[in-house]
This record gives sequence, C-alpha cells and structure tokens, in this order.
Amino acid sequence: MIISAIAAVADNGTIGKDGGLPWHLPDDMKFFQRTTVNHYVITGRKNYESIPERFRPLPNRTNIVVTRAEGYKAPGALVCRSIEEALDMARNAGETECFIIGGGQVYEEAFEKKLIHRIYLTSVHAEIVGDVKFPSIGKGWKEVWTEHHKADAKHEFPFTFKVLQHLN
Ligand SMILES: NC(=O)c1ccc[n+]([C@@H]2O[C@H](COP(=O)([O-])OP(=O)(O)OC[C@H]3O[C@@H](n4cnc5c(N)ncnc54)[C@H](OP(=O)(O)O)[C@@H]3O)[C@@H](O)[C@H]2O)c1
Repeated sequence: MIISAIAAVADNGTIGKDGGLPWHLPDDMKFFQRTTVNHYVITGRKNYESIPERFRPLPNRTNIVVTRAEGYKAPGALVCRSIEEALDMARNAGETECFIIGGGQVYEEAFEKKLIHRIYLTSVHAEIVGDVKFPSIGKGWKEVWTEHHKADAKHEFPFTFKVLQHLN
C-alpha cells in the first residue's frame, strides 16, 4: 500500500491558523477531492473537528480519525488510537493508496517515522501568519509532477501542485 501525505503549505511553512485553513483556494480543494476520493483518509482529531459538520466525514472516502481519547465517537468515521493502527486498518481492507491528510501533529509524526512514500504538495506562494507549520520532510524526495496555478478572482494567492516521490 502506498502511504501518501497531501497538504497545502505556504512558502514559510504555514498550514493552519486558528484551527482552520488560512486561505480559500477552491481549485486546491477540488484537487484534494479528486485525489483522495474512494480512498482511506487518515486525519488527526483536531483537523477532523475543523471540518464543518455538514462536510464530515468527507464523502466517498473512508475517514479514520486518530485520537488518544478513549471512547471518542465520530459518527460515520472510524476511530484509531495511532497512525499505525489506522494504516493497518486500511491495508487489511485492501487499500492501494492511503492518504494522511493532516494536521500538523499527524504529518509531523508520519514524516518523523518515515512512513510516507509520496507527497501531494500544494505550494502556496505567500508568507502566511499562522499557528501550525508543515514539518521537515527529510531528504531523498524527487519531484515527479508539477503544475502551476495563477492567482485569479477566486484565488488570492498563486500556487503550484507538486507530487514528490521518495527515492527508496
Ligand atoms: N494546509 C493543509 O493542507 C492542512 C491540512 C490539514 C490540517 N490543516 C490545519 O492544521 C491544523 C490542525 O493541526 P494540529 O496539528 O493542530 O492537529 P491535528 O494533527 O489535526 O490533530 C492533533 C490531534 O490528533 C490526535 N493525534 C495526533 N497524533 C496522534 C497519534 N500518534 N496517535 C493518536 N492520536 C494522535 C490527538 O488527538 P486527541 O487530543 O484527541 O488525543 C491530537 O491532539 C488546523 O489549523 C487545520 O486547518 C492544514
């Protein structure tokens, strides 16, 4: 099973502010939707709770929320006590590519443990003040795809989609 991370990251590393996303980039949301649809998505409890209730669990995906809290309930989603347990659940279900969708704590642990094979990275070309940063991804990544998107009436900042593949 390929383990992928998907994230939108400002040039200064910011990914979150006040419990939410610091930008509104509809074409990036569409990219997220079409990349993750029909797959398992693994999310930290805080990121999950930042999704408006009417949009969660994310439709047409198996959502797994990771939390250390006993008895946590997320109707319509699965709940696991660790990232590894969540990955095992996806693997045992026959998933071919599973997505770690944040937030900061979950990305950090996944990269630190070198769990990630592929990154779908939207580089948002702006310096954004925020309170959650993307972690260091370490060495050994190769950019295998890139596509630029200009700022326009619906997108305050220009951004670049990238897919990075780990070389090992
Ligand atoms: N730009 C992007 O692409 C992007 C993507 C996702 C999220 N975000 C942003 O990131 C922010 C949220 O990130 P965050 O770092 O505050 O929180 P988070 O990573 O979403 O969630 C943290 C929580 O997840 C649980 N958790 C984390 N690691 C765990 C582990 N190893 N085992 C079991 N449970 C674990 C804990 O829940 P309990 O406290 O319940 O134990 C922890 O408090 C928001 O602002 C959100 O909008 C941005």
